[in-house]
Amino acid sequence: MAPTPLSPHRPLDEFYSATQQRQKFIDELFNEAAPDYDWVSFMMSFGTDRKYRRQALHEAGLRPGMRLLDVASGTGLMIRAALQLGLNPADVSGVDPSRGMLAQNPERHRVTLLEGRGEALPFPDASFDFVCMGYALRHVEDLRTLFAEIRRVLRPEGRVLILEITRPASASARRLLRLYMQKVVPWVGWLRRRNQSTLRLMQYYWATIEECVPPPVILAALEASGLQAVVRTTTGPVLSKYSARR
Ligand SMILES: C[S@@+](CC[C@H](N)C(=O)[O-])C[C@H]1O[C@@H](n2cnc3c(N)ncnc32)[C@H](O)[C@@H]1O
Repeated sequence: MAPTPLSPHRPLDEFYSATQQRQKFIDELFNEAAPDYDWVSFMMSFGTDRKYRRQALHEAGLRPGMRLLDVASGTGLMIRAALQLGLNPADVSGVDPSRGMLAQNPERHRVTLLEGRGEALPFPDASFDFVCMGYALRHVEDLRTLFAEIRRVLRPEGRVLILEITRPASASARRLLRLYMQKVVPWVGWLRRRNQSTLRLMQYYWATIEECVPPPVILAALEASGLQAVVRTTTGPVLSKYSARR
């Protein structure tokens, strides 16, 4: 029997009228914001995002010679970090539903990129040594199906690393993050390109961060999927790393 779906957040009616419209809304959002995405990621992290991704992958055990799948690969920031760690482009695959985001990946001619969703990975069983996902947990429809799919495509003992932004526990940290995401980043984004795409992206980001199921629910769903050694580590009040192995 298929497990009961576990949505990462309640339906966000203020952004889409019906749950069936959710993925279409998200695809349009990322297609539109794609040319600005790397800049937004840089701004959101005060310039630390590239190094953070690289270090997180290394610490989670990603090494040259491994076959890597990057779920929700977007513009390829995780893939670029993996290539900097010495992975062979022939061993690297990415999957993402947004054509606009995939088209911005400067490595798109050297690695394998497919259009698709984390909940239905277009790869055979046990085809990867390592699966990663950067900042996209909040965008899938069902965490249980996602984790089952990640486990399915991993070889036995293969590893998984999921990076995510977590709602800060303290009210003052929440206020600061909201101010930065909803006012500062969009305003500078508007000065750069004179369009509203960054504002829309940041408003949606904030809603998904605020409404996201808490870390214990994510950890329990990872364990229930059959993954082993499930651990969450944090950096500061906002950044979470979930790691596990098959
Ligand atoms: C915030 S971006 C993260 C991109 C990249 N992983 C990174 O680390 O910068 C979120 C990505 O999730 C993708 N996405 C949205 N819905 C998805 C789904 N159901 N399955 C997989 N990826 C999805 C979006 O198209 C977008 O590229």
